[in-house]
Amino acid sequence: MSDKNKLSVQALQWQNGVLLVLDQRQLPDAIAYDQYKTAIGVAEAIKSMRVRGAPAIGIAAAYGVALSVKQHYLNSPETWRVVVMQDIELLSQSRPTAVNLFWALELMRKKIDEITGDPVDEVEQLAIRIHLDDIASNKKMGRLGADVLGNARSVMTHCNAGALATGGFGTALGVIRSAAERGSLTVYAGETRPWLQGARLTAWELAQDGIAVTLIADSVAAHLMKSNKIEWIIVGADRIASNGDVANKIGTYSLAVLARQHGVKMMVVAPTSTIDWGILDGSQITIEERPAEELLPKCYLQDDSLVSAWNPVFDITPAELISAIVTENGVIEDPFVAGLEKIKR
Ligand code: MRU
Repeated sequence: MSDKNKLSVQALQWQNGVLLVLDQRQLPDAIAYDQYKTAIGVAEAIKSMRVRGAPAIGIAAAYGVALSVKQHYLNSPETWRVVVMQDIELLSQSRPTAVNLFWALELMRKKIDEITGDPVDEVEQLAIRIHLDDIASNKKMGRLGADVLGNARSVMTHCNAGALATGGFGTALGVIRSAAERGSLTVYAGETRPWLQGARLTAWELAQDGIAVTLIADSVAAHLMKSNKIEWIIVGADRIASNGDVANKIGTYSLAVLARQHGVKMMVVAPTSTIDWGILDGSQITIEERPAEELLPKCYLQDDSLVSAWNPVFDITPAELISAIVTENGVIEDPFVAGLEKIKR
């Protein structure tokens, strides 16, 4: 690969029929890949946040199905489908919000339904295709999003929507990468409590590519916008409803409200695999709530403690607060319902 086409860090690698998953919980302190040979293992990797980010979760699940098919077809060529369907069900329960998971599992399930002979190779090839298509989509969205930015040279991002969250290159960070190639860019990243994807992943990932980034505490965002330091907020998405409402990392909605107040524009960058065509608006999206222990200091964890925590990890940004949704099939602006319908293929 030429330097320009070189992929930055890779969250997932498929090597000789084994899935390597970068354990993102250890970043930026350690770069450690775990090997997975079963769908049960992959479901656990998703659940435990070793791999996270909507497109990456979908790709990991697709490889999980490929692993399941190989394992069970070789063990029991007569009854393998039943066990594989159980593994697909298990994978579907790993996390609830990112629709890419269900999208990828559905593609895999359909392929399995069609196959009459030995399924191993065909199913593996489909998982690889899902992975490669995601990278290609990200590159395309990078260019389209950089076009939308035009001369704007100061942006903020939230959570991690980079190579780590996708097949490679990234959605929101793909736009930032492409824009940075075109000229100097000022980038702010919110730290993204409670998992600190912004601080641990986005800042690290951009620095790996030689892109300077300024980290801010999440609560600095209003002051940043009031100080005229950014023109655009660029984020990814976990699920987009057919009216353009966007589910993304908790805090995205606050940023969108603040952006509207301060004349800052809001860009959402996501492949069409993130669009849930079956839902009318964001109210139909399940918001994952993670354990209170992820928020609470240890001293509050006794049974008789009066301190509890509520830990929703996504929120819904209404379409009316979004300036542009960038997909691999084109850029959509208000009116979103008609715009989304047009790019549906
Ligand atoms: O809980 P996470 O880390 O899986 O949440 C990830 C996000 O919210 C990302 O911003 C989103 O998936 C877009 S990734 C291209």
